[in-house]
Amino acid sequence: MHAGVGQTVAKIILFGEHSVVYGYPAIAMPLRNLRMIARVEPTTRPSELSSLGWVGPLDEAPARFASIVRAVDAALEFAGHPNARLRIETHAEFPPERGLGSSAAAAGAVIRAVLSAFDVDAEPEDLFDLTQMAERIAHGHPSGLDATATSSQSPIHFQAGATTAVQINLSAWIVVADSGIHGSTRETVGHIREEHERCPEVTRPRLAELGRITAEAVDDVRAGDVSGLGQKMNDAHRLLAELGVSNARLDQLTAAARSAGAVGAKLTGGGRGGCVIALARTSADAKRIAAALGMAGATGTWVYAPHAYEVAA
Ligand code: MEV
Repeated sequence: MHAGVGQTVAKIILFGEHSVVYGYPAIAMPLRNLRMIARVEPTTRPSELSSLGWVGPLDEAPARFASIVRAVDAALEFAGHPNARLRIETHAEFPPERGLGSSAAAAGAVIRAVLSAFDVDAEPEDLFDLTQMAERIAHGHPSGLDATATSSQSPIHFQAGATTAVQINLSAWIVVADSGIHGSTRETVGHIREEHERCPEVTRPRLAELGRITAEAVDDVRAGDVSGLGQKMNDAHRLLAELGVSNARLDQLTAAARSAGAVGAKLTGGGRGGCVIALARTSADAKRIAAALGMAGATGTWVYAPHAYEVAA
């Protein structure tokens, strides 16, 4: 065994968060400039973790690292060295618990780093399965969307475990803004599950509507219909709010984005905190919207040009 490195990236969900858990489609985009890097090296001491400012023995890691601990165990098991001792370090270029896929990205990066340290090759399906083992610890019943999107090269359509690349033909920009509030995906996924059991006649149609919007959004993305897409973002945000996974800050930020000229805006990811995304027609609009979101209290903003699938600012 030698030192190993693994890398994944952040993601945003354009459409389909939560409804994807119930088998409906989703569209997600990896953010390749926001990386998660894991490094591992052999040690003779008990295994040690250094992540998000916490350093200590792996078996004493606080609960928020439980999915990383699971990722290490699963990868060591897969590599055939379940008792190997490692020093593990993660470095994130984006904040955790903001709907950007931090838990799946951290698990995916650690798994890749451990496997590379043992020179073990894994198929994409193996990497997905291993990441899902960790994600089940992080938030119970993951759809697999985050595990897939955080290791993708390009935007994806995801439904019931099946992934296809999506060609984004939009002449538009996407502004991502961080509300600065931690959102717990475990909590919001759990909330919708409870509502689904308690009141299926209200919850099911909302999830189905999100599914329908996402399916139509795929056509808009391919056809370059910016107005249609913006309207669907607003509709998706309203439905997610009705499902109980928005909050006052996310509603305020999406409203601020629309007032500043966004064609549409919605929360992205688990919700009740985390990030919002807004659609802008021009790069100048995107800059103005990002500034307005900053004025409205966003703690960070990023602008992407999805048509070129490159970072615009
Ligand atoms: C979280 O980024 C996305 C959710 O749809 C959960 C999942 O897909 O597992 C809320």
